[in-house]
Amino acid sequence: MNKIKIGLIGFGRMGGFYLEEMQKSNQWDIVYICDTNLKSRKKAAELSPQSVIVADEQVIFDDPEVQVVGLFALADTRKKQIEKAIASGKHIIAEKPASDTVANEWEIVAMTEKSPLLSTINLYLRNSWYHKSIKNFISTGEIGELAIIRICHLTPGLAPGEGHEYEGPSFHDCGMHYVDIARWYAGSEFKTVNAQAMRMWDYKDPWWLQCHGTFENGVVFDITQGHVYGQLAKNQTHNSYIDIIGTKGIARMTHDFKTAVVELHGITQTHRIEKPFGGKNMDVLCQQFADSVLSGERHPGLPTIRDAAIASEFAWYCLENAKSNDLPAIGNLQTLEEIRKHRRTLKNGYGLINQ
Ligand SMILES: NC(=O)c1ccc[n+]([C@@H]2O[C@H](COP(=O)([O-])OP(=O)(O)OC[C@H]3O[C@@H](n4cnc5c(N)ncnc54)[C@H](O)[C@@H]3O)[C@@H](O)[C@H]2O)c1
Repeated sequence: MNKIKIGLIGFGRMGGFYLEEMQKSNQWDIVYICDTNLKSRKKAAELSPQSVIVADEQVIFDDPEVQVVGLFALADTRKKQIEKAIASGKHIIAEKPASDTVANEWEIVAMTEKSPLLSTINLYLRNSWYHKSIKNFISTGEIGELAIIRICHLTPGLAPGEGHEYEGPSFHDCGMHYVDIARWYAGSEFKTVNAQAMRMWDYKDPWWLQCHGTFENGVVFDITQGHVYGQLAKNQTHNSYIDIIGTKGIARMTHDFKTAVVELHGITQTHRIEKPFGGKNMDVLCQQFADSVLSGERHPGLPTIRDAAIASEFAWYCLENAKSNDLPAIGNLQTLEEIRKHRRTLKNGYGLINQ
């Protein structure tokens, strides 16, 4: 079978995950790995000895043999890279958010939608088995009419100042996934929202935000997201769930990052499904993308850059909205410094960069 030639740009935490998944499948030939950081390039050379390791992304764009680029550096670099990918005729797998400003993101939507090249972005929840099984269950009518979508994702993850500065505060960097999945379930566009946030540890930006609102079709939602969940606790934990309420039944899911449990309570059927969590589901994304490149037909499951731009814009809007509703600060920067120091020495924690 002909393998697809790809160049990966950005070999940090996510780049490493992509490499691992692509190496497991037999669909990819990882021709290049690019990172501006020497330590990351050394790691790439160890993990993928057959790849050419470069510091300058231009080498990848200039090689006519490369069919796909994987854009896994930070949000400030992606717009330029997407422009170069389109100019050099390469398909695109991008990390989210598509860029560091909403205006750039909509420019990227326009240019990728105009191009015949394939592009996708890693809205990973859309590729998870648990959300797919809940959505399928809803579509059978077992919970009656979909009415209320409740989502919570609280972890002792990435603290302010640890990285991802271009990705924005926690509700944008991570929260845009939950914004996106709420819209995916509702099958409708956002109509109204009210947001309340907390500037934990007196940091300049909120690191916890809760919002609720409506979709155009009348479905209501609430989302609670924060990386403020006990970073200094002796034993760390998290709280992550979705709770879907219909006019007749309910469907919900919770996970511990290892196992996810889906509970479906419909009018004629009750199911409890327990399966491995599945991480970031890059195996699904990469396979759907490879199949699309090989067949020339876009897999319908591939998230679009437009989906990501909508989620990103809405997450930024929620952060703005929260500023207009009393935005308190609790704690102090000294505690935040303790958290950063503690997390630097952690080997096994939540969302650790440079593991
Ligand atoms: N989809 C998801 O669930 C998910 C989860 C985490 C992160 N992300 C996204 O993935 C992206 C990367 O996140 P990460 O956690 O891997 O960050 P990271 O800091 O671990 O890695 C980023 C890497 O990019 C490199 N880099 C920076 N600029 C570069 C350039 N111009 N050319 C080449 N390399 C460059 C850095 O040296 C670093 O090694 C972010 O935009 C983030 O929002 C997505």
